[in-house]
Amino acid sequence: MTRFLVLVLLIALPHIACATDALTLACETCHGSAQAPSGMPSFFAMDEVQIAAQLRAYRDGALGGTAMPRIAAGLSDSQINALAKYFSHTAP
Ligand code: HEC
Repeated sequence: MTRFLVLVLLIALPHIACATDALTLACETCHGSAQAPSGMPSFFAMDEVQIAAQLRAYRDGALGGTAMPRIAAGLSDSQINALAKYFSHTAP
C-alpha cells in the first residue's frame, strides 16, 4: 500500500508542476513575456503581493475589466499564489 502511494505521488508531482506551466503560458499569450511584453497593462514590474492582490480583486469582482474578471474567476487561491510567485520573478 505504501509503495502504491509513493508511486502515485511520483507520477502526480510533475503534472502538478506542469499545471502551473500551462497557466503561465495562457497568461503570456495575452501579456507577452518579460523579454517581449505585448504592450497591454501588465504585471512584469509588480511584486508578488501586488499581482496576487490584483488577481483576487478581479476574481472577487472588486476590480472590473474586459478579460481578467472572466479569467480570474476560474483561479483558486493556490493557483493565484503560484502565478504571483512565478511572474514576480520574471520582472525585467
Ligand atoms: C485574453 C487575454 C488575457 C489573458 C489570457 C490574461 N490576461 Fe491579464 N489582462 C488582460 C487585459 C485586457 C487586462 C486589462 C484589464 C482588463 O481589461 O481585463 C489584463 C490585466 C491584468 C493584470 C493587471 C495589470 C495592471 O497593470 O493593472 C494582471 C495582474 C493580469 N492581467 C494577470 C494575468 C494573469 C496572471 C493571467 C494568467 C492567469 C492573465 N492575466 C491572462 C488580458 C489577458
